[in-house]
Amino acid sequence: MKFQEWSKEFEIGIGAIDKDHQTLFNTIRQLGEHIHEDRGDGRIKATINALLLYVDEHFEREERFMIRAGYPDFVAHKQEHDRFRDVIMSLRDFHDKNPAAIDAQKIVSFLEEWLLHHILKVDNHYKPYLNGEKEGDHTITQTFQVNASAHIIQLPCPADKEEHVRHFLKLISENTEEGLLIDQAVEKITRMQQTRREKKARELFGK
Ligand SMILES: [Fe+2]
Repeated sequence: MKFQEWSKEFEIGIGAIDKDHQTLFNTIRQLGEHIHEDRGDGRIKATINALLLYVDEHFEREERFMIRAGYPDFVAHKQEHDRFRDVIMSLRDFHDKNPAAIDAQKIVSFLEEWLLHHILKVDNHYKPYLNGEKEGDHTITQTFQVNASAHIIQLPCPADKEEHVRHFLKLISENTEEGLLIDQAVEKITRMQQTRREKKARELFGK
């Protein structure tokens, strides 16, 4: 098995974030070793779930920092996070269904490469805003800061879809028949997403 070694040059100089990145890096390595040395599906599953949990915690922390600093590229950065989260969920589902078909080296190489590219090419850009060297955009902070007590859902929405989203929310919250149709459509889309994820996972991580 080939692993990348962690190096000081991967640090971005913000303690909590560097610590998260190292934890993610170590968990990827651990996952690769468990699969390569065939240490059992239960252990592999637990490590994939741990990776998903660390990814969630880490992205949530980074996103909170970026929102607070008014980082102008917040939305694009969050989309990268969401795509990666989706890949890990694909891996989890694929392993659940086909535990013998996953390839340890492919998993380690893909995840390490993604993480290092993300740290060096994407995360590094927010550093001057988080450090206060550059001034952020206050509208980002206002738009995305979550008021936890109010149960407000905030998500980036393409400008031309805003009316649709508002209309759908109204139909769902008023429990209309059309709202039920939306529920059924969402279920169908969820199944389609599962199929898409499975296909993607097979391409990326299958033997
Ligand atoms: Fe990031």
